[in-house]
Amino acid sequence: MARLPNPYRPGFNQAPLLLAGRDDVIDGAVDALEQAALDARTPRPLVVVGSRGVGKTVVLTRVADLAAERFGWLTVHVEVRPHEPFTDLLAGRLLEAAAVLTDAPPGPRFEVDTATVRARLAGVGAELTLRRRAPEPVRHASLGDALHRAVDAALARESGLVLTVDEVQLASHRELAGFAATLQERTPDDWPLVVALAGLPSVRSPRRSVTYLERAAWYEIGLLDERDTARALAEPAAQAGRSISPAALDLLAATSGGYPYAVQVLGHYAWRESFGAPEITLDHARAALPRAHADLAAGLYQARWDDASPRQQEYLAAVADLLGRTGEATGGDVARLLGAEPSAVSYLRDRLLQKGTLYADGRALRFPTPGMAQWITDHATPDA
Ligand SMILES: Nc1ncnc2c1ncn2[C@@H]1O[C@H](COP(=O)(O)OP(=O)(O)OP(=O)(O)O)[C@@H](O)[C@H]1O
Ligand SMILES: [Mg+2]
Repeated sequence: MARLPNPYRPGFNQAPLLLAGRDDVIDGAVDALEQAALDARTPRPLVVVGSRGVGKTVVLTRVADLAAERFGWLTVHVEVRPHEPFTDLLAGRLLEAAAVLTDAPPGPRFEVDTATVRARLAGVGAELTLRRRAPEPVRHASLGDALHRAVDAALARESGLVLTVDEVQLASHRELAGFAATLQERTPDDWPLVVALAGLPSVRSPRRSVTYLERAAWYEIGLLDERDTARALAEPAAQAGRSISPAALDLLAATSGGYPYAVQVLGHYAWRESFGAPEITLDHARAALPRAHADLAAGLYQARWDDASPRQQEYLAAVADLLGRTGEATGGDVARLLGAEPSAVSYLRDRLLQKGTLYADGRALRFPTPGMAQWITDHATPDA
């Protein structure tokens, strides 16, 4: 029996075969690209926010793919790291993009295939850099100068540029403001430049407010609805030549809670259980659940838990406890359970929201990852 490749993509930054339920933001990105490429008008930046694992990075990847496929544009990508400035890194990558664009064979379209662009998302132009004729460029310039050089190089070949920045919530306010000011002040309104940013919802907090981002097109992405969850589960299997029975689909969809990361993990194990069969049946789906749970626990829950300080873990355990018993947890409820004044523990809540371990739905606190509350209740004891 030939082994068919598994069509699911469990794991962060893994582009799904079907990007379900993201038409709004993708349509917005296509609009922005068309405006920049065809109407010679610099579009508003796009900002994609959502909690951990809902698919922000894969949306950025999709934007880069679209730019490459439709217009032959390059994408310069940078991911902000904790406590590390990103501006110099970004400026360096822009200079590298300028060099790649300048040295590539003439012609308005810069022929890049999707795979090349993906590879390039880690940095800029690894493959193409190797084929460059010119000596190494000077890698230091201010962000504004680097941006000018890259866009000028793109313009010279009647092309344009996409700039993506991920994990924006990790940028200091000062650096983000500097980045925004550069884009605002140094970007003429007829540049072929599309800027797309992604981060946790805390990017939106007033403390981080910068004018440039206020006028951006904001997209909040979250859990998939029932229809999109079903499509995200069924389509990859169908494309790979296997159907899913309605009962199996219901079970997998309900278990995922519409959480995109869990959709891929569940799909992955259901696919494996159905090796050699023409259809994923309810039995296959049932057999997949323990492995999917174990995978989510090891990959998601444990990582979030270990990333929390002992006090934050106490806070998380209290939220999980309340959710398990009452289905509701507000900051006030948690404080009461911990025997503290709300103001004394609100910094814990804020940190956990900022990291995306929890999210706020109005006053209610929730875990973005289905099953995490249960996992904490069953397995976790706060570190001493
Ligand atoms: N719209 C979608 N449909 C189906 N699967 C998706 C969708 N969006 C994301 N996924 C899957 O969810 C997982 C997480 O995606 P991604 O890494 O982009 O999340 P993220 O929001 O960037 O997470 P983080 O905040 O931790 O960086 C991947 O396995 C991806 O394939
Ligand atoms: Mg991401």
